[in-house]
Amino acid sequence: MMDISIVGTGYVGLVSAAGFAEKGHNVVCVDVDEDKVELINNKKSPIYEEGLGEILSVVCDRNLKATTDLESAVNSTEVTFICVGTPSGDDGVVDLRYIRGVSADLGKILSKKDSYHVIVVKSTVIPGSTEDVVIPLVEKNSKKKASSDFGVAMNPEFLREGAAVEDFANPDRIVIGALDQKSGDMVEQIYFDFTAPVLRTNVKTAEMIKYTANSLLATKISFINEIGNMCKEMGIDVYDVAKGVGMDHRISPSFLRAGPGFGGSCFPKDVSALVYKANKIGIKPILLESVLKVNSMQPLRVFELVKEKYGPLEGVQISVLGLAFKPGTDDMRYSPAISIINSLVSSGAKIMAYDPQAIENAKKIFGDSIEFASSAEKALKDSSLALILTDWEEFKNIDYSVMKEKRVFDTRKIVKTDLLPDDVEYEGLSW
Ligand SMILES: NC(=O)c1ccc[n+]([C@@H]2O[C@H](COP(=O)([O-])OP(=O)(O)OC[C@H]3O[C@@H](n4cnc5c(N)ncnc54)[C@H](O)[C@@H]3O)[C@@H](O)[C@H]2O)c1
Repeated sequence: MMDISIVGTGYVGLVSAAGFAEKGHNVVCVDVDEDKVELINNKKSPIYEEGLGEILSVVCDRNLKATTDLESAVNSTEVTFICVGTPSGDDGVVDLRYIRGVSADLGKILSKKDSYHVIVVKSTVIPGSTEDVVIPLVEKNSKKKASSDFGVAMNPEFLREGAAVEDFANPDRIVIGALDQKSGDMVEQIYFDFTAPVLRTNVKTAEMIKYTANSLLATKISFINEIGNMCKEMGIDVYDVAKGVGMDHRISPSFLRAGPGFGGSCFPKDVSALVYKANKIGIKPILLESVLKVNSMQPLRVFELVKEKYGPLEGVQISVLGLAFKPGTDDMRYSPAISIINSLVSSGAKIMAYDPQAIENAKKIFGDSIEFASSAEKALKDSSLALILTDWEEFKNIDYSVMKEKRVFDTRKIVKTDLLPDDVEYEGLSW
């Protein structure tokens, strides 16, 4: 078993920490956010992910602790994973300020640490960042040399929010991009108990694998959304089309569910970052630019269809069911619900919103421009339209007949229409 420190206790850092601790490693989590650290040490998860609370309640008594003290965490461990955020900056460029900060701090700490230490970048960083940003900062601040004095690897994370615990424990593959054999071997040792195949690459390739995977998945979503928009106009159900297409083993049915567009903390920022990088190196990323454009238009498409079918919207109460960018998470980052709701509010609609997990995060975004209900049924009462934006299971079969005007507009094809009362009018986004 190994002693591991993990910097950043967000979706990736905390889930990785819990997963490694569950496997028996001794894990120290580090975050600058004192509230998060306190919550974790009290066995509570600062984020919603199924199963995470249960794991923390076991490992926090055993082999996982959290601290704000990076130095003590590094000194008591042999490997440090960097899991801080890499948000989008201007024009989509990846903002590496947190990566830079941690790298400089790690350098200062390593300057005083005698034993060999490996730094593993798990955050998603554009190819070249580990070698051109992380390593120089650690070397400058430690006065030590990468490879000979300390190890470096890049180990991208592929977990999906909403299924993060399950994905971390059962990945399709483990990619380890190492600067040298010893660094890569140390990281591979951490994963000794995982059944997934391990792919060893150089550092840059590991970074690029992550961007390529996310860009391809985002492309599938924009592709099916464009097809879905055509299907709607032709009276065809895109979900039947996707089923027929996805049965082809070369294509697979995954990521072919049409909807209001992709969101979350990864796809929008990662595709934008790759587009930015491509332009910088003289490659015109025509396909990926279109993927982003289709995605930015899709929430508008939802709004236009709602306005066309149910407008004028002035004074109309709309129940928005689902705010998170996908089910199983409380994450609102880049959720298509944000621009759809803002457009509806601008048109004078009164929004009564409900989400099983994301209301607290949504309140920070919408303030008092919309109202929130504590259950789907309460949100539906007195409304003239139910607008489903996230495919939470519980929206499949609720009592839509409590509405003032019984009308449902479903962007995710989640409602079980065979169970809907006859007097409920049902319409889909792309069927
Ligand atoms: N969220 C996902 O589904 C997902 C999946 C795969 C990869 N990633 C990538 O993983 C990285 C982290 O994403 P996330 O969603 O977990 O981010 P997050 O925003 O949820 O968490 C980042 C955490 O880092 C902490 N932090 C910032 N600076 C720090 C510092 N100097 N020291 C200690 N802690 C610090 C923040 O307080 C925060 O808790 C990003 O690069 C992201 O692209 C995310």
